[in-house]
Amino acid sequence: MASSYMPRLHQLKGISAASRTAYLPHTSRSIPTFSKRFASTEAEPIATITKKKKKSPVRKFIFRTSLAFVLFGGYLYFTDTRASAHRYIAVPLVRWLYPDAEDAHHAGVAALKELYKLGLHPRERSSPDLDGKLGTEVFGYTLSNPLGISGGLDKHAEIPDPLFALGAAVVEVGGTTPLPQDGNPKPRVFRVVSQSGMINRYGLNSKGADHMAKVLKQRVREFAYASGFGYSDAGEERVLNGEAGVPPGSLNEGKLLAVQVAKNKLTPESDIAAVTGDYVYCVDRLAPYADIVVVNVSSPNTPGLRGLQAAGPLTEILKGVVGAAKRIDRKTKPFVMVKVSPDEDSEEQVDGICHAVRESGVDGVIVGNTTNRRPGPVPNGYPLSSKEKQTLTETGGYSGPQLFERTVALVSRYKQKLSDAESPKTIFASGGITNGKQAQKVLDAGASVAMMYTAITYGGTGTLTRVKNELRQERNI
Ligand SMILES: Cc1cc2nc3c(=O)[nH]c(=O)nc-3n(C[C@H](O)[C@H](O)[C@H](O)COP(=O)(O)O)c2cc1C
Repeated sequence: MASSYMPRLHQLKGISAASRTAYLPHTSRSIPTFSKRFASTEAEPIATITKKKKKSPVRKFIFRTSLAFVLFGGYLYFTDTRASAHRYIAVPLVRWLYPDAEDAHHAGVAALKELYKLGLHPRERSSPDLDGKLGTEVFGYTLSNPLGISGGLDKHAEIPDPLFALGAAVVEVGGTTPLPQDGNPKPRVFRVVSQSGMINRYGLNSKGADHMAKVLKQRVREFAYASGFGYSDAGEERVLNGEAGVPPGSLNEGKLLAVQVAKNKLTPESDIAAVTGDYVYCVDRLAPYADIVVVNVSSPNTPGLRGLQAAGPLTEILKGVVGAAKRIDRKTKPFVMVKVSPDEDSEEQVDGICHAVRESGVDGVIVGNTTNRRPGPVPNGYPLSSKEKQTLTETGGYSGPQLFERTVALVSRYKQKLSDAESPKTIFASGGITNGKQAQKVLDAGASVAMMYTAITYGGTGTLTRVKNELRQERNI
């Protein structure tokens, strides 16, 4: 439309520069380069005007090459877990953009998922595991390092591979329940920034075991296809039976995938057969895709769940899970671990759990989970703001650095009780681990893997790489 009443340039010849500018529509007048050129080329043919606009090929080349260098440099920087921008820019930015911690969680998961698809995800470019010095033996596998990401960060198994790429040797996905459930009403996740802590009462929101099984099956099929086994049942079977030379769960050499299972909120905890049925339902569907199955009886946000840690019910549930895990149709069966609470820590309670672990033939224990207690402020932290004092009154499980000392103490107690010569159990530690010194301390206390969650939400995608470097410093390697 605009061109139909715009004067053609040749029609304007012979008219003074000022008057020409007046002829031009408003938009053209407001572009200074155009009107300036026009004014200074009284009798110049149109061809000359267009010619002047063209950049020389050399300038074009320099511009394009510099742009390519900048983009490539930016790509290398932002996809490297060592980039401090992840910790000092991305984390505060996400906190600012998403005042609600759950929204930030979803955004972070979605971003990692999309970036991974595009090949733009952060990864360990420094390959700190390659020299094997951080390697450790777990369940007969040589893990590339002793660090893991604990349950709840990837609730629906959407991003196990991006999480492995961040440097974790163990990624725990879930917890998932047999049937989908919404969890508690929002808001249900709260930050306590001055303490680098969190309170959550998600309440095991889950898309259900069938959904997770579908997601994990698809992942194996894609891996089978990429490995030349074909996108088929047969290809999937070959990968799950170890023909690709990688663990069937993680699909990554030196790494293990743990899948966490739990009961539905509506399954009455007094009906132990029904509760066991819930866990077994999940194991039947998910164990084929797991290196480790984790039984969650320690979330504080499902009423009655922690009561299942009493010796009697726990033994029955764990026996059911171990049996189901052994029945799956796969050459190697997944190992079974139980994740316990840091709050049920009396001698009697710990003894009861250890008894159930031994009786049922479970392979190990993850010590522990979030706490119902409200710890005092971290020694060198910032004072609590009045809003944070209010946040601490929210119902839910607390996580963060304050948990650490109790985690170490509990790890050594479980280690002591479960180290009998004929069947020693494997311990993973979870609770307040934030740096390499602490990771080393829980490993010294008897854990085989130091798992993190809250430290990653505050430290960003470079946290595992940083902790590995600090571990090396601790070990002088
Ligand atoms: C937001 C949030 C969600 C969590 N969801 C789960 C979960 O689904 N299952 C579980 O066993 N633990 C869950 N946890 C507990 C963590 O896995 C971990 O055991 C706990 O936070 C202590 O470790 P940390 O201090 O390193 O965070 C969750 C923790 C947080 C902060």
